[in-house]
Amino acid sequence: MPEIPSKPILLSERSHQTRDLAISFLMQQGVENPDCLSLAAGLVDPLTLPVQDALQSASEVLSTEESGRKALQYGTTQGSLELRQLLLKHFESLEGKSASELGIDETQLVATTGSQQLLSLVCETLIDPGDICLVAGPTYFVFAGNLTGVGARTVTIPADENGMQPAALDAALEQIAERQELHRVKLIYVVSYYDNPSGVCVSTERRQQIVEIANKWSREHRILVLEDAAYRELQYDGEVHPSVWSFDETRESVIYTQTFSKTFSPGIRVGFGVLPKELVGPICDRKGNEDFGSANFNQHLVANALSTGRYHEHLQKVRQGYQLKRDAMLAAAEEYFSDIEGVSWVHPHGGLYVWMSLPKEISTGFQSDLFQAAVKNGVMYVPGELCYAGAIADRPKHQMRLSYGVLTEEGIREGMKRLASAVKSMDN
Ligand SMILES: Cc1ncc(COP(=O)(O)O)c(C=O)c1O
Repeated sequence: MPEIPSKPILLSERSHQTRDLAISFLMQQGVENPDCLSLAAGLVDPLTLPVQDALQSASEVLSTEESGRKALQYGTTQGSLELRQLLLKHFESLEGKSASELGIDETQLVATTGSQQLLSLVCETLIDPGDICLVAGPTYFVFAGNLTGVGARTVTIPADENGMQPAALDAALEQIAERQELHRVKLIYVVSYYDNPSGVCVSTERRQQIVEIANKWSREHRILVLEDAAYRELQYDGEVHPSVWSFDETRESVIYTQTFSKTFSPGIRVGFGVLPKELVGPICDRKGNEDFGSANFNQHLVANALSTGRYHEHLQKVRQGYQLKRDAMLAAAEEYFSDIEGVSWVHPHGGLYVWMSLPKEISTGFQSDLFQAAVKNGVMYVPGELCYAGAIADRPKHQMRLSYGVLTEEGIREGMKRLASAVKSMDN
């Protein structure tokens, strides 16, 4: 065996800013406690994965030498034209308008490796160290990690059951302007439908206000809104909201991202973006440096699932399944938590998460008594403090993200029972 060199490896400054400890810790807990019921895992339900649909699509894509070769070859950086045309149709049906009414075409669409890749590309393309991004509190923690990774400063805007509060957003931008730092503001990040982690949907009124506020403070340069619509199609009931993007009449101020991971298959990992014209080149250049195109075969699978109608049939089934699980979690919350004083939770109309707040004196972090008691009782959750951007010390410590994605209805019920018993044991 050759000797391991004694000299250290010098990592880039960026990689020092990138830490994945929370996820690793949760995974490790899962491995060490195999009987633990996981209300933590944000994965999609394994039983809903479209094995037969994917098999059918794959065999159709590979059914002739010509179509097979096309799919098995490299594609283009921006993504297959056929897929982008289908994505445009899909987007038209979500928006309820034709592309010409919307004022866009397929040249503004980019196919990505999940929507996560677009979130990351947007950060890389727009943000220099010290630039500012405004995010809701709580927010999607992987994106918070992307921001840290590029050295962004984050400003947390309080959110309630209607999403990010526009008055607070406006006030924060005013303060930034007073500090003469408006030129550092690049983005306002909004998870517009059934947020991860909070489950809330931004109200229609606020969607419009957020775009107006971005425009109002776009003085020397454009402050962009990054709309993450990852859960848009996982709606179970409640009002149908137009996208934040739809309120941007210029089509130049909102970046829109969506994904087929939650509704079809995260293993296929196809997402897409609708970009302001001016950003298509810079985002594709950056993507060119990274992978010069997402997996072409996977794009062909999604294109086939969309064009044959298989995707939409699958989506109906997925929605029905999650709705039952959402109901099971809410019923269990009612049954086991409603007699615990100071506990409240959000009733989501879609997505995969229920956000629960405990009395302020009960901490939920990995080192907390509650987390230890929960694991001992055989249940795990994501501590709420992980779902905020900014300094750990400033984050609320008494919340939990509970996911109904992976467990069965019985598992959800049992997990909630165990968790409530852990919370009740905090009294003693
Ligand atoms: C809010 C949000 N955005 C984006 C993503 C990224 O998903 P993907 O990259 O699989 O499309 C996730 C995944 O959990 C998410 O919760």
